[in-house]
Amino acid sequence: MKSTELINGYLSFFEAKGHAIIPSSPLIPENDPTVLFTTAGMHPLVPFLLGEPHPKGKRIANVQKCIRTTDISEVGDESHLTFFQMLGNWSLGDYFKGDALKWSYEFLTEVLKIPKEKIYVTCFEGDEDAPKDEEAARIWRRLGVPENHIFFLGKKDNWWGPAGKTGPCGPDSEMFYWNSEEKPKRGQDPSNCNKFLEIWNDVFMQYNKREDGSFEQLKQKNVDTGMGVERTIAVLQGKNSVYETDLFEPIMKRIRMLAKEENKCSERIIADHVRASTFIMAERVMPSNVEQGYVLRKLIRRAYIHAQKVGIETSLSSIAEVVVEHYCRIYPELKANETFIMDEMHKEEERFKLTLEKGIKVFEKKIKEFKKELPGKVAFDLYQSFGFPVEITIDLAKENRLKVNEEEFNEELKKHQDLSRSSSTKRFASGLADQSHDTRRLHTTTHLLHQALRTVLGGHVQQKGSNITPERLRFDFTHNGKMSGEELKRVEDIVNEQIRNQVEVSYEEMPFEKAKKSGALHFFDQKYPDTVRVYSIGNFSKEFCTGPHVENTSELGKFKILKEEGVAAGIRRIKAGLE
Ligand code: ALA
Repeated sequence: MKSTELINGYLSFFEAKGHAIIPSSPLIPENDPTVLFTTAGMHPLVPFLLGEPHPKGKRIANVQKCIRTTDISEVGDESHLTFFQMLGNWSLGDYFKGDALKWSYEFLTEVLKIPKEKIYVTCFEGDEDAPKDEEAARIWRRLGVPENHIFFLGKKDNWWGPAGKTGPCGPDSEMFYWNSEEKPKRGQDPSNCNKFLEIWNDVFMQYNKREDGSFEQLKQKNVDTGMGVERTIAVLQGKNSVYETDLFEPIMKRIRMLAKEENKCSERIIADHVRASTFIMAERVMPSNVEQGYVLRKLIRRAYIHAQKVGIETSLSSIAEVVVEHYCRIYPELKANETFIMDEMHKEEERFKLTLEKGIKVFEKKIKEFKKELPGKVAFDLYQSFGFPVEITIDLAKENRLKVNEEEFNEELKKHQDLSRSSSTKRFASGLADQSHDTRRLHTTTHLLHQALRTVLGGHVQQKGSNITPERLRFDFTHNGKMSGEELKRVEDIVNEQIRNQVEVSYEEMPFEKAKKSGALHFFDQKYPDTVRVYSIGNFSKEFCTGPHVENTSELGKFKILKEEGVAAGIRRIKAGLE
């Protein structure tokens, strides 16, 4: 079976069971400022798992692009990847364990035709947060899974989520393929034996993890499932490695054609990293030193080093080209952004080339100074001055039988990030894109909105993010559940009343402690300087802020809320403008 048949077969199977097929959401989360990449199919669906109605109904399925970077240093072996695709079907407060497990089993055994004796399952064994999942086990037995193919395991193995710190989560039931001719040893559970390949996970999302670590029941019981396309197709094609499947075939072929030397590990790193970079750039991300751009930089530079190692002389873009061709039917954004991808990849290689030579010289000098371990500070200097992602230094050090002190490197990095964060907090403290009169007007409006939300919804409302352009404001704040039409109307009315009253906007500089005592709104988890500025809008609003603002609310015009939506567990977003 080809990978496209797996994907299309899965989607048609669930469509026939009443699921709406939605396109893959972007890799860069649209609504969650707390993570860099979409890591699972459920991620973009969080607001709907929390209870907001999905426009397509209660049954959804798709294939989702995902990136997970935690295992980046393992890439090169048979199975680890940074980019992968996840098939998923969801019940948003509709069917639950019975149908979810029945359909999973039907798809595995009847559509994929995996022999029943090869399938093993695990269920949650229970703890103080949730009971033993006897129900799931009963369903498996009823479906015909023999008792000795069912295992109960703890939270580490059979509990999924939340994706971030808080949010929907729950016990899960995982399905494994036994990848051997022999039988497993008696009692051998799938958690610690690599002959069991995990292919699918059905999560019964009925809990919400709160900030304090406790769990509450969700309003609705959901099902969230995830089947890794790469791993499953390796099983179906009888391959030991995901890199030998049709998902990688033309990419590996191109790499082997360009390389002068054979090196399996380097070839796989190049394949994975170029594939991931291509998908990230298809969302118009450029290599940089921050956030997604930094991950992208790391991927391209690491791929470049390995390409050098096997003697590839052309640009990595000649490999990215194959990725675009191979995947563009399912992900048309690749083709639509092909020129951008090729240009940016090439430019990043050129930038890296410029410093690489110097960096390698410094590296070679340094390794002579140290015997077993390369201090983290040296790795940090290479990163800082020559743009060597630490993974590259680790790779190079390994070749010279040296270990990098990663702990020390991370300490140095943290020191540096704290410094740059405090300067960028100053710059972006008010979330302003520029300082034009229009953005100033919307900035003052944001303060009015913040206070109006607290008046209408309560004192639990706190600012979580703000982004202002000359056209609109965007304000993220803590609150559970969707705001009603009436609440939105009241908020609008309060803001407009402050505008009609032509209230003066003023500020005062004062010591931090005094400002705090004055009850001015501020971020609780942010570090402030000794002296701060507090902006007041009449007696209505008082907030820590560096400005700039308009002088009087009469400059604002009519306030209008354009959209209210959930962006993460317990976080809402309002987009609004001035007419
Ligand atoms: N969200 C679940 C996972 O990623 C299905 O495994």
